[in-house]
Amino acid sequence: MRQQLLAAAFFTASAFVTMPAFAGDAVKGEALFKKCAACHKIGADAKNAVGPALTGVVGRAVAGVEDYKYGKSIVELGETGAVWTEEEIFEYLANPKKYLRAKLDNKKAKSKMSFKLKKEDQRNDVIAYLATFSPKAEEGDAASEEPKAEETTEETTTTN
Ligand code: HEC
Repeated sequence: MRQQLLAAAFFTASAFVTMPAFAGDAVKGEALFKKCAACHKIGADAKNAVGPALTGVVGRAVAGVEDYKYGKSIVELGETGAVWTEEEIFEYLANPKKYLRAKLDNKKAKSKMSFKLKKEDQRNDVIAYLATFSPKAEEGDAASEEPKAEETTEETTTTN
């Protein structure tokens, strides 16, 4: 009896340990993208809407969609050669205006995107979803569904 209890406790504990705390979940991210879809389209033939098309945004130049009319501040950031890595998008989504102000060191910088996504896990999930529309750095080997996720421990924020 006691052994069974111990075993149960052990399995419960290890389930928590192996659960990736911050690794983004693209499936959850797809559902979350509904929040973004009010303004953004994504996919092979996605067009600009209120916001620019987000197809391939991970790894893309900031303000990099040619025929979208960005706000002045984000254009300024794009001109510095800034690129949307997953880390940068993570910061941006929390508060686009604040992000631009910090990056440009300009308290008057503005963002045309008023939406904020506060929760870290939601940001990670939605970014994991965005990343499925970007070519992987190594290219080839399609559909690599994060095989490393199990090894992710709590202290590592998702990189890449
Ligand atoms: C209310 C409309 C709105 C919502 C909702 C919204 N965005 Fe945006 N987004 C914009 C606009 C407008 C811009 C252009 C910003 C500018 O020009 O300053 C933008 C820009 C961006 C950019 C920069 C793109 C580039 O080409 O540089 C990213 C990344 C982005 N949004 C991601 C998201 C994600 C992910 C979500 C959902 C979690 C989201 N947005 C929700 C309106 C929105």
